[in-house]
Amino acid sequence: MKHRIARTTLAALTLVAFATVGHAQQGKLKVGMMLPYSGTYAALGTAIENGFRLRLQEQGGKLGGREIEFVKVDDESDPAKATDNVNKLIKRDNVDVIVGTVHSGVAMAMAKAAKESGTVLIVPNAGADAVTGPMCAQNIFRSSFSNWQPAYAMGVVAAKQEGKKSAMTITWKYAAGDESTAGFKEGFEKNGGKVVKQLTVPFPNVEFQALLTEIAAAKPDAVYAFFAGGGAVKFVKDYAAAGLDKTIPLYGPGFLTDGTLDAQGDAAKGMLTTLHYADGMETPRDKSFRTAYAKEYKLQPDVYAVQGYDAAQMLAIGLNAVKGDISKKAEFASAIESAKIDSPRGTFTVGKSHNPVQDIYLRKVEGKENKMVGVAIKGLADPSRGCKL
Ligand code: BEZ
Repeated sequence: MKHRIARTTLAALTLVAFATVGHAQQGKLKVGMMLPYSGTYAALGTAIENGFRLRLQEQGGKLGGREIEFVKVDDESDPAKATDNVNKLIKRDNVDVIVGTVHSGVAMAMAKAAKESGTVLIVPNAGADAVTGPMCAQNIFRSSFSNWQPAYAMGVVAAKQEGKKSAMTITWKYAAGDESTAGFKEGFEKNGGKVVKQLTVPFPNVEFQALLTEIAAAKPDAVYAFFAGGGAVKFVKDYAAAGLDKTIPLYGPGFLTDGTLDAQGDAAKGMLTTLHYADGMETPRDKSFRTAYAKEYKLQPDVYAVQGYDAAQMLAIGLNAVKGDISKKAEFASAIESAKIDSPRGTFTVGKSHNPVQDIYLRKVEGKENKMVGVAIKGLADPSRGCKL
């Protein structure tokens, strides 16, 4: 009799315990959105959040069976504030996942904090090579690109397809600019070109006149520029206003003209860029994404919106595999590593270093669109130098 009571009590306790675990798992998943909502990259941050929310909405407001609670931080694209900002999300707000950010310098501080704390981090833009290189980790993922990827492809196209022999590069002086111009140089020089001079301005400075005068005097065959957001608008307009667009073709990774064409107008006409997304892809997957995005936000999506959307897709893939229990880090990671992610950009995988292996498209500016011209490099994987996983 005593035994039977004990057994019944034990069974009841076990039931309560299971119910409690189940309940905890069905509680809201806290997502820390650390993005720029002010400054030169503000529009990029908003597009990423829009894309993420669109996917969440398509999934009935849940990912991996869990409702989502957002905690938002404006990181101002300021690396000096990045460690404090990310630590607030991890230690004060106890978020389960961090999604962010745009700026490579800020992302590196986030990756360091994520690696130390074990918090899952999904980077929906910043291309810092180190994030999926020396800083790579089981809990760090990227839904976007490495700075090397579109840059290397543009270098190959400029030398091989466009037949350019000499080029100058110009960019903001920080990790993304340095890595993007280095990637271009690698692709360009491997194919017979020579980068003759590399110019920089401090981030987020937009005083380009002196450097444009230097380019006009040097007369290279081509210029490669990395700028994005508000800075890209100003640079492309200044380049055309100086009359350089008539004599020296301006190339860049697609950030130079993505989400910026309304403001750049005719100054961007005919520009060639390389990126993992393009207008006019004409696939059913992209068409349905674009229709849904335009309906929800009353504007056309850009590459940043796609990266935000795919950050939500990757999170859902991981969460589905662990039935919402994000503490199962190894199963969460291996589900994403083995997934084929059905993106509007085309299907991609992430492999061991967790950086997308993806097609890089060649695009040409026509009207308000970065029209797809062709595939510059198919299935391009970042070399992920220094990643030991
Ligand atoms: C970066 O800092 O990594 C970045 C910012 C804007 C567009 C692309 C890359």
